[in-house]
Amino acid sequence: MNDYLRLLQYVKPYWRRGVAAALCMIVAAVTTLLVPWIIRDIVDDVLTAKNMMALNLIAVAILLIFFVRGVFTFGHGYLMSYIGNRVIIDIRLRVYAHLQRLSLAYFDRRKTGSLMSKLTNDVNALQTAIVDNIVDIVKESVILLGSIVAMVWLHWKLTLLCLVIVPLVSTTIRYFGRKIKRSGRRVQESVADVTAHLQESIAGIRVVKSFHREAHEIERFRQINERNFGALMKAAQQTSQLSPLVEFLAALAIIAIIWYGGWSVIHGELTSGELIAFLIYAINLANPVRRLSSLYANVQKALAAAERVFSVLDEEPSVRERPQAVVLPPVAGRVEFRDVSFAYEPSKPVLQGLGFCAEPGQTIALVGPSGSGKSTVANLLPRFYDVTAGAVLVDGHDVRDVTLASLREQIGIVPQETVLFNTTIEENIRYGRLDATEAEIRAALAAANAESFIDEMPDGLQTVIGDRGLVLSGGQRQRIAIARALLKNPRILVLDEATSALDTESERVVQDALDRLLIGRTAMVVAHRLSTIQRADLILVIDRGRIVERGTHDELLAAEGMYYNLYTLRQQGEPT
Ligand SMILES: Nc1ncnc2c1ncn2[C@@H]1O[C@H](COP(=O)(O)OP(=O)(O)OP(=O)(O)O)[C@@H](O)[C@H]1O
Ligand SMILES: [Mg+2]
Repeated sequence: MNDYLRLLQYVKPYWRRGVAAALCMIVAAVTTLLVPWIIRDIVDDVLTAKNMMALNLIAVAILLIFFVRGVFTFGHGYLMSYIGNRVIIDIRLRVYAHLQRLSLAYFDRRKTGSLMSKLTNDVNALQTAIVDNIVDIVKESVILLGSIVAMVWLHWKLTLLCLVIVPLVSTTIRYFGRKIKRSGRRVQESVADVTAHLQESIAGIRVVKSFHREAHEIERFRQINERNFGALMKAAQQTSQLSPLVEFLAALAIIAIIWYGGWSVIHGELTSGELIAFLIYAINLANPVRRLSSLYANVQKALAAAERVFSVLDEEPSVRERPQAVVLPPVAGRVEFRDVSFAYEPSKPVLQGLGFCAEPGQTIALVGPSGSGKSTVANLLPRFYDVTAGAVLVDGHDVRDVTLASLREQIGIVPQETVLFNTTIEENIRYGRLDATEAEIRAALAAANAESFIDEMPDGLQTVIGDRGLVLSGGQRQRIAIARALLKNPRILVLDEATSALDTESERVVQDALDRLLIGRTAMVVAHRLSTIQRADLILVIDRGRIVERGTHDELLAAEGMYYNLYTLRQQGEPT
């Protein structure tokens, strides 16, 4: 119920429309309630008394009733759809905005497709809870109460007899409600699996094809689909069981009415018209009861989706700004790691006691075996993660004391894998600084040695690159990433060099672009290129999360330690 109240919070801004819709619904419901009353008059006044005038009146009244009902039914349907759709849009935006703010650690452990499913399938499932259900709950409750009042009016003893089934019905509904919520949860999970598989296999289509695993993927997808079908059918089974059961209970009440009501008519306590009207109310009553029970089932399903949506909203970013965080003033670019330790998971330390300092304009190269923690060091500077001990300082400011925006604005990042968006090359570069002019973009491209290949493309800067920029070669992608960083023009640069080797010619142009990028900035480079390493002011050799050697290229070679070994391995053409 808590989740439902929470959902209603999103409806609150639209309460005026909600009230209007409720009024429309009440009018429509009242018109429904008038019909049996008229039928009583038909039987008792028209048919029994043979009154032609009354018959004409009744015909006109029925016409009016259905006209009014049509207008107001339209009104509430339209208004409620408006509210429901609006609320869905609001929630989706809220969840998306929240996801954008969550820290990397949250995304590390989750399937992209499953998150996408929360924003699409789960949010859509909420719609039934909001639109269809609130509408119907109000409408059916009005009909329910109105019918009971009319029945009491007609024959209170008979009404009491009917109400005996109420506890039976409510117990049944509650019992099934719990089961339906559980199966609803399973449905949403299996839908998320479908989305996750789609997302992964389409994003990884190159791998699928290169290993010729299409059939394997189809089979995996078939199984996931079947599980989804199973979950859906389980939920459908429970939902479908509920209505007939409730109807059966309602039939018991109808039998009681026919028997006891018939007895009353025979004994002159009730007119035939009244009994017929009573019966219609009772059948009318069965309708809302049955409808309310299926509504209850839908609400349970929607609540299962709501749980999943709210679980995202309840997630707190692990990297949080302190309330007293200050704006980092424009920096000179002094970077210091002070006795830094870090672990992604508490039990597994990744970095231990790292200490070093880069003066403004210096280049620090991080080298070491794969998995030693180089990229992790690079991740700590822009505060993608928080250190577990020690501190990272920029110009003497602890990165945890300044706002994330002001920190990241002054740090440029060229990641190991270039990520490009599915839009024009220009938009991709402009991502570095949204208000850059075309001339500035051109200058950045020129400095990144990217002008020539872009000019050769049919639409130049306006060429649209596909998902992840796969129309471009590895070297071209890297140069676009460099242009992006140049456009941003940060004082501090974090560069995770791509491990994938380029051919000598591309290597030369990329290196040339990188050299230009490094000029005048403090750079922390996870270095794989020998030329970058040789030019660094300080080389840190990292092994299993510790700095094991430090110095310049010549110093480290002379020491004949780990660096010397890595270097000679590389000389023999082996990857490090
Ligand atoms: N997001 C993460 N969550 C948990 N553990 C991680 C995460 N990223 C990296 N690790 C672990 O931390 C350790 C260091 O990883 P890191 O990526 O820093 O290595 P690296 O030195 O950059 O290696 P490479 O040269 O191959 O890029 C590894 O053992 C890795 O398994
Ligand atoms: Mg790495």
